[in-house]
Amino acid sequence: MAKKAKNKNILIGVCGGIAAYKTCELVRLLIKNGFAIKVMMTEAAAKFVTPLTFQTLSKNPVYIDMFQVLKEESTQHITLSRWADLCVIAPLSANTLSKIASGISDNLLTTVVCALGGKTSVVLAPAMNENMWKNPIIQENVEKLKKFKKYVFMNPQKGELACGIYGEGRMPEPKDIYAKIKTALR
Ligand SMILES: Cc1cc2nc3c(=O)[nH]c(=O)nc-3n(C[C@H](O)[C@H](O)[C@H](O)COP(=O)(O)O)c2cc1C
Repeated sequence: MAKKAKNKNILIGVCGGIAAYKTCELVRLLIKNGFAIKVMMTEAAAKFVTPLTFQTLSKNPVYIDMFQVLKEESTQHITLSRWADLCVIAPLSANTLSKIASGISDNLLTTVVCALGGKTSVVLAPAMNENMWKNPIIQENVEKLKKFKKYVFMNPQKGELACGIYGEGRMPEPKDIYAKIKTALR
């Protein structure tokens, strides 16, 4: 029997950017609505929000280090990729966006994304400085990702950016990512 949307497993990936604090609200929203949540972070992400915050909000361990020796499993990237009904990367940094577009798998988050089955969609919510977003190389990578149906791309919004300027680069609001997750699960 197909799982009810509420019983779905959502794997959240967090990259290193100021907008990581907004992902706490997204996790809270998903948990409140009955989703099972696991969070994986890049090492840079852990400089912005502590793993303890995500562990507490998601009610699950937080995954960062691919080479951490765990009791039951050594291939946690495969276990996580199989666990996920849907993956969401928010905020998606310019760095990780480019790695995903190239199939680079040099940390837990990028390896899990690479190992996801073809049917597992990945909602991508980038956030970065406007110049980074408009950088032609980043735009080329965005276009590359948009060609694949499994990547559900959310363009960053216009507004005040962490660097103090007004421009395009803000991470979409948690409620909008939540709405996109529900659509993607359908
Ligand atoms: C204060 C600060 C804010 C940053 N904000 C962003 C951001 O919003 N988007 C981004 O792509 N990179 C941002 N960076 C740079 C990333 O943290 C950096 O490129 C890092 O290598 C990303 O690693 P990751 O993709 O593994 O998370 C920021 C760096 C600092 C110090």
